Amino acid sequence: MKEIKIGLLGLGNIGTGTYKSLEMNKDIIEKSVGAKVDIVKILEKDIDRERDITVSKDQFVSDPEDIFQDPEIDIVIELLGGVEPAATFMERAMDCGKHVVTANKAAVAANYPKLTEAAKRNNVMFKFEASVGGGIPVLTALDGAARANRYTEVLGIVNGTTNYILHMMSEEDMDYETALKDAQAKGFAEADPTADVEGIDAANKLSILMALMFDKYVHPKDIPTTGITEITKEKIAEAKANDCVIKLIAHATVQEDGEITYEVRPTFIRTYHPLANVLKEFNAVYVKGNLVGKLMFYGPGAGPLPTGSAVMGDVMEIARRII
Ligand code: HSE
Repeated sequence: MKEIKIGLLGLGNIGTGTYKSLEMNKDIIEKSVGAKVDIVKILEKDIDRERDITVSKDQFVSDPEDIFQDPEIDIVIELLGGVEPAATFMERAMDCGKHVVTANKAAVAANYPKLTEAAKRNNVMFKFEASVGGGIPVLTALDGAARANRYTEVLGIVNGTTNYILHMMSEEDMDYETALKDAQAKGFAEADPTADVEGIDAANKLSILMALMFDKYVHPKDIPTTGITEITKEKIAEAKANDCVIKLIAHATVQEDGEITYEVRPTFIRTYHPLANVLKEFNAVYVKGNLVGKLMFYGPGAGPLPTGSAVMGDVMEIARRII
């Protein structure tokens, strides 16, 4: 049986979740692909951490070139997080002929043209399903089964941390600071929650959605972005009085003249709209296409195993095409 060999960059929470996803479902994955699938090398400094996975110390490497230049490795999974060195490593991996899979929205959004060009120039696949909506297979659907559409609009709840905070403010009558502390205690928000609460993470995801749906690349820094830090109990009450809930919405629309407008901001959503019922840390992406009409993709937008599910889905798609 052919073996697909993978080099993994990063064994943090998401890297460990991906490794575990393969470990848990190896039989299903390998049967579906028709090949053995193994993570053979891992770039990671912290080799002693307790991770609840079976990993041997000789899988670890400290030099990424040990992965990029290994002729046996077919696919590189990048799960380092952050823009650099992740983006440079992905480009280098593709220049070395490797297919690349990532969950890293910041690196993809900031470097979309460069990374997609690297994939073309090297005739390799570059896949990033897990970068938007975590475990929700939204990019694969938009770029596959629904690709025949001319998309006219996307509205996304694409940040679980802020959706959780807004939910607790609205449903549990918490103020912003208390809801943020609760999100941190439950592990949804990072110790430094800036990228989430300022809307930067949602802008990264909107940049990727727009590139894919409208073939229009906008650097996330150029997306007008307002986070949720100024949302008060009074604003929540005002929304309720108007039969609305406040959601942090990543929004892009194609205007009649073809111009595309885009922004990320807290938005009043009518309580009957499906997005109003996306509660707690869940994510949803609502799109309009000229053939299919309105579609909504809903599910867990973060977490090691949901993200591992999406990463492994990309790996399997590549594996099927190269065996
Ligand atoms: N910090 C992100 C969120 C993680 O809260 O949704 C998933 O991208």
